[in-house]
Amino acid sequence: MCGIIGYIGARQATPILIGGLRKLEYRGYDSAGVSVFDPSGGPMSRVVRCRGKLSALEEKLQKEPAPGTVGMGHTRWATHGRPSDENSHPHKAGPISVIHNGIIENHLALRAELAAAGAKFSSETDTEIFAHLVEHALLAGAPDLTVAVRRSLAKVRGSFAFVVMSDKEPGTLVAAKNSSPLVVGLGDGENYVASDVTAILSETRRVIFIDEGEMVTVTRSGVQITDFDGKPHVREAKTITWSAVQAEKGGFKHYMLKEIHEQPRAVADTLVGRVNLESDDVVLDGVDLDVAKIKRIIFIACGTSYHASMVGEFMVESLARIPVEVDLASEFRYRDPILGPGDLVVAVSQSGETLDTMEAIREAKKKGAQVLAISNVVESSIPRLSDHAFYTHAGPEIGVASTKAFTTQLVGIALLAIYLGRRTQKLSKERARQLLAELVQLPVKMRDVVESGAQLQALARRYGHAHGFLFLGRGSQYPIALEGALKLKEISYIHAEGYAAGEMKHGPIALIDEHLPVIVLAPRGPHYEKVVSNLAEVRARQGKVLAVATKGDNEIGGHADDVILVPDTALELQPILTVLPLQMLSYYVADFKGTDIDQPRNLAKSVTVE
Ligand code: G6P
Repeated sequence: MCGIIGYIGARQATPILIGGLRKLEYRGYDSAGVSVFDPSGGPMSRVVRCRGKLSALEEKLQKEPAPGTVGMGHTRWATHGRPSDENSHPHKAGPISVIHNGIIENHLALRAELAAAGAKFSSETDTEIFAHLVEHALLAGAPDLTVAVRRSLAKVRGSFAFVVMSDKEPGTLVAAKNSSPLVVGLGDGENYVASDVTAILSETRRVIFIDEGEMVTVTRSGVQITDFDGKPHVREAKTITWSAVQAEKGGFKHYMLKEIHEQPRAVADTLVGRVNLESDDVVLDGVDLDVAKIKRIIFIACGTSYHASMVGEFMVESLARIPVEVDLASEFRYRDPILGPGDLVVAVSQSGETLDTMEAIREAKKKGAQVLAISNVVESSIPRLSDHAFYTHAGPEIGVASTKAFTTQLVGIALLAIYLGRRTQKLSKERARQLLAELVQLPVKMRDVVESGAQLQALARRYGHAHGFLFLGRGSQYPIALEGALKLKEISYIHAEGYAAGEMKHGPIALIDEHLPVIVLAPRGPHYEKVVSNLAEVRARQGKVLAVATKGDNEIGGHADDVILVPDTALELQPILTVLPLQMLSYYVADFKGTDIDQPRNLAKSVTVE
């Protein structure tokens, strides 16, 4: 999510840090900052940071220069704490400065512990806690910065890449990684750390990618990598041959493909701090609902977020037994909706800026409903306009066709449904426990699917010449059929229709012939038999069937021309897995056609007109 760069050497650090951060700008951010040691002044690190773009930071640095040859820089994409000067990184506690990418899951408990020990906080962030932990470790006798960081790491849970500096040890940068990316760059008498290779590619091509659970002490003369227990790890440097543009995409051909592959990690980040496996409950930060007063829930959204909302209808009705309606935000106002204080409106928007959704929220608030926003962008307009906000923490999504924003919305809505179900007491503790356990396992299962690219690439080659596609699904797979069709038309410009499988006989069946590929969502579940009958209807008319089914289903192969298998999970969570092959199929069909996948014609990532 956030951009990280650190430098240690003989040159002035600030221009290198700003140059590196500029290479990460494409990822989106809302504030930036640097911390640099000024050898003539102490040595004391100087922190300069502010809300806004890098140009605002550069302006500030004109007035408050940060000279020195050791430093680190950060672009923040807000997760905990709104975008502001105070919440910008680096964060300082005594001699320690810290930058961080990720989320500290147990930040509330640690904050209380540190406050009881006398720590004073100057931001709302989870990151500042780590600066205090390292300071405390030094005060408690840690012999150097590396040991202090190691002892502090033992206390934090969550996903992170940290870089830490200490005024008491100006020749060292210490960095650590768990889940969030971290790379070390090797120079001649100088070294670097960064979240992405892009940030340092203009300075060096010799890098070491830091692995999970590793930390690294970086000095001018070398790097020392260990695990979190201090056991040395010997790692070979690699020479990067990617171009700068390839590097921005993490070696993937397009942002969309990178973001498809980022989904397991993004979903893990959505779950961080929200699943309490001890109490079999969900913790929803930023949401304080009086559930007993909610008589009805109305989802409003556009595009892909609308499809997530349609899945939400199934999740909430089945788990919480609260009646749900789903409305297109662009239509909501035109039917003069009947709303009141018993209604909870859930506005789903990855960008948080869609004007239609904002107008629908204004209408809902005017009529006395409470509004909960589900968004990926902290402090964007929609969460600010709403009474409650839930952030999906998917990280910036660059590709216009939404992928990881969608699956994290589904996970967010699943968490909401469990939260509501526990409070309406329609969801037993036992069932909540099973669902939460399934949610926690989703990232591993998702990885299984996104790594099966070769099969989808082959299918895309086989079917990519078709002039049209039909997508069919029942129940909560119907919105996934709609989403599959939307993805395909958005990026490949091939006409595609999503249909409720049971409706096929009322119209689309007329389209079926040997030229029409029909993608049928047929995971194991209550609608399986009926969906298999629909497959038979398609094949009886020479249609070509691609079925998305559950691993272990030996029957489906007899009814389909091609089968794509996904792992099994709870019924309510199946859409989060079945959508993945559809995203990938669309991607490979579009790639095969050579369209502009990341910026399809006529589309925008955030639509701020009605
Ligand atoms: C645009 C984007 C879609 C998105 C829709 C709603 O059309 O291209 O990917 O689904 O807006 O956006 P939101 O940010 O409100 O989810």
